[in-house]
Amino acid sequence: MTNKYILVTGGTGYIGSHTVLEIVKSNFEVIVIDDLSNSSEGNLKSIEKLTKKNIKFYKFSLLEKDKIVRIFKNYQIESVIHFAGFKSVPESIKNPLSYYKNNITGTLNLIEAMNSFNCNKIIFSSSASVYSETNKPPYKEVDSLDYKNPYSHSKLIIEKMLQSLSTYNKSWNILILRYFNPAGSDESGLLGDESINPTNLFPAIANSILGINSKLTVFGNDYETIDGSAVRDYIHVTDLAKGHLKAVENIDKFNYEVFNFGSGKGFTVLQVINEFQKITSKKIKVDIVERREGDQAISYADIEKARKVFNWKNNKNLGDMCKDTMNWYQKLL
Ligand code: UD1
Repeated sequence: MTNKYILVTGGTGYIGSHTVLEIVKSNFEVIVIDDLSNSSEGNLKSIEKLTKKNIKFYKFSLLEKDKIVRIFKNYQIESVIHFAGFKSVPESIKNPLSYYKNNITGTLNLIEAMNSFNCNKIIFSSSASVYSETNKPPYKEVDSLDYKNPYSHSKLIIEKMLQSLSTYNKSWNILILRYFNPAGSDESGLLGDESINPTNLFPAIANSILGINSKLTVFGNDYETIDGSAVRDYIHVTDLAKGHLKAVENIDKFNYEVFNFGSGKGFTVLQVINEFQKITSKKIKVDIVERREGDQAISYADIEKARKVFNWKNNKNLGDMCKDTMNWYQKLL
């Protein structure tokens, strides 16, 4: 038990796998837990190929607490990056209890196991969807919070639980990372989003360019934005993964702290479609329909805190996100 490990829950998923790649590249030792409910081992195989290192992987759900405990018994875990969780908004509306059980109970099992083994450093994947729509963008970490659906509610409950834990037990080091809209893939094209039926904008555009869907549906063109379509803050998943590396390196300095991760810039849906058309030289057939229920008009981040405190910045732009998305989805064909 000489090596010290970073435990990554949900490490085969979209953001998790890109983060595992960056932390393995930086010579940290990693253990991945994932139940493969919305991913496969493919991304880990790609990371092994890219880094020429073996990754310790355990397939189970965080609802299986005895298995979490076994990991802590067998390895000296220095810190935990906790991605594992259900993430589909429509699914969470259909089946709220499964979201509370999987996301909240799973997290509780994890932090109880950590507590028993005196491991008290955790980085938690939260979401921009915890910001209340009453705030004026760009959203700052101190802005007011609210939930819109059981998915974002589960994230908010976990944030609050961790915040409370940090208040009453100062030995914890807890970082909450609020992601805006991650997009793109590792530049190798070897790892990416394997989610079943992704409903996000980037996969939808890629699938329409590749002919998997005949048309792209645009939800709403009557928002108060420059072209009427909704504005989001897209961040390249590799930039986001590198943000996690900064968080791991700096976690000792904090008891509880929240950081936004976005690009700090907003793009409309139609601007993103145009960028894809430019990159691929293909025309995308667009079908404009009603606004999607629960969608916000404008969301983008204030990223000054992560910039200053972590000395972190985005290295990739919207064009890179479009190009790398195509690269990944082309390989899946
Ligand atoms: C969604 C989730 C959010 C989650 C985030 C990151 C919802 C309501 N919100 O955010 O909780 O944290 O993903 O994974 O699902 N769009 C189209 N056509 C499409 C797909 C999307 O026009 O086929 C539009 C949407 O209306 C939206 C924008 O593109 O304006 C971005 O959509 P999406 O990628 O689904 O992300 P969010 O809805 O911002």
